[in-house]
Amino acid sequence: MFQRLKTWFAKAPAQPVQQLAADNIPQHIAIIMDGNGRWAKKRGLPRMAGHHSGMKTVKRITMEANRLGVKYLTLYAFSTENWKRPKDEVEFLMKLPQEFLSIELKELIENNVQVRMMGLRENLPAHTLSAVEEAIQRTKNNTGLVLNFALNYGSRKEMIEAVRHIGEEIQSGRLKPEDINDSHMNEALLSSGLPDPDLLIRTSGELRLSNFMLWQLAYSELWFTDVYWPEFTEHHFHEAVSEYQRRARRYGGL
Ligand code: FPP
Repeated sequence: MFQRLKTWFAKAPAQPVQQLAADNIPQHIAIIMDGNGRWAKKRGLPRMAGHHSGMKTVKRITMEANRLGVKYLTLYAFSTENWKRPKDEVEFLMKLPQEFLSIELKELIENNVQVRMMGLRENLPAHTLSAVEEAIQRTKNNTGLVLNFALNYGSRKEMIEAVRHIGEEIQSGRLKPEDINDSHMNEALLSSGLPDPDLLIRTSGELRLSNFMLWQLAYSELWFTDVYWPEFTEHHFHEAVSEYQRRARRYGGL
């Protein structure tokens, strides 16, 4: 771990950064990447320019998380509600994973990053899904950061599907209602296999969860910033982790 941090400091940007405790890096960080549209509007640019710039932030923060020794990074890239946006914006957003992976996959592989996806595969255009599936396939044996894209993801739908699955288990006699516990839900959710996020970051000043990982965030530390996602830097990321390290997590205990 110290070696990884030393590597980070060697490559660190010139900005002042927070002093981080190497033994208390959050294992799983989830981010609601918000404010692309407002960032663009502020500059007189089309909303798509904001999303495109947000894609570059994805790269920077992924690399930074990997350097710090974060094990899982979940990014809310497209929600089940985002289909309501204008057609041209949806189409643009659906092209971003493809563009991102065509540029960055090589470097992600060199950095031992494993790509995953959390969301409903149905409705995704074939070109989006095939780019993501290819990245998942090519990085499946990597052991560094897990970069988990929440794509066509919505927490309520995820929970309804999980409950439906548990209902079927009961109906078939494989499970008794009185035996249902947390782990049945954990296994039935799209996040199955991932630990709950330790830290949730939301950019752009909005203070809500927007149907994101409602079950999984039960005991996560929440950190909000007014900064729009395209201008979110390694420095802000360090601020979030530094604040996380000052929190006392009690999980309802004393
Ligand atoms: C919310 O900002 C952001 C999104 C719905 C899309 C997020 C996508 C990216 C950051 C790029 C994803 C990149 C990859 C590689 C998948 P908003 O559009 O709601 O902003 P606004 O609230 O200011 O309008």
